[in-house]
Amino acid sequence: MGYDNRPIGFFDSGLGGLSTLREARKILPRESFIYYADNLNSPYGNMEDERIIALSRERISYLLQKGIKALVIACNTVTAAAINQIREMANIPVIGMEPAIAPALKATKTNKVLLLATKATLRNKGYCSRYGDVEVACCVCLGLAPFIERNYDDDERIVEYIRLLAQPYSNLNFDCIVLGCTHYVLKKKMFEECFPGAAIIDGNEGTALHLLNVLASGGMLSDGKKRPFIKLIMTDGSREKYDLYRRILKNAP
Ligand code: DGL
Repeated sequence: MGYDNRPIGFFDSGLGGLSTLREARKILPRESFIYYADNLNSPYGNMEDERIIALSRERISYLLQKGIKALVIACNTVTAAAINQIREMANIPVIGMEPAIAPALKATKTNKVLLLATKATLRNKGYCSRYGDVEVACCVCLGLAPFIERNYDDDERIVEYIRLLAQPYSNLNFDCIVLGCTHYVLKKKMFEECFPGAAIIDGNEGTALHLLNVLASGGMLSDGKKRPFIKLIMTDGSREKYDLYRRILKNAP
């Protein structure tokens, strides 16, 4: 059984993927990580696929030069638009991020699920559909990811924004909400406030477990002899942004 002490790369358009990284750290405490956010160009969610592919390929080729052993695309939008093109350029395992529909299908009692995601995520995949008896409705959350990025500490305004977006779906009788964007997961409590009684489901734990399986089965886990580190790289690395990202990484909400 081999070991591999190289870091794991994480990529997102902004701070959302930190929610995935936090989950991965819990499951893989001996691993080191390099988190790369293209926050200068974010949000990606409203862009055409060609632009998402071009930007993410460019950013990821830089990340690959850092000597990572695996790559997590901690962004539903980039996964939906560009995962094949990214896999073509990387000769390491690439783990994508998809909305956690499967657990919602199991959990729903009313047979109605509401999926919240960006325009590009929903355009690319046929998520809004019937799955047996269950209907999955999709809500394009225009502008929500950048709103969270810009107003991270203003929970009141974030709640208002979510309420506004979900208003047209209010009489659908759904009891499960799938957070199909990693930015939203950081504000899970706000969704709980907006949808009292509904189960709020995200794919972060599933993605982290998948990462663990890929590393374990490939003999690529760290041997734990070196002190693990987390490096943040941002295309807009102002002091203010950097501090916010570090703070999110440290604490829970
Ligand atoms: N975190 C990205 C996702 O999971 C954000 C989308 C954006 O940049 O608009 O979809």
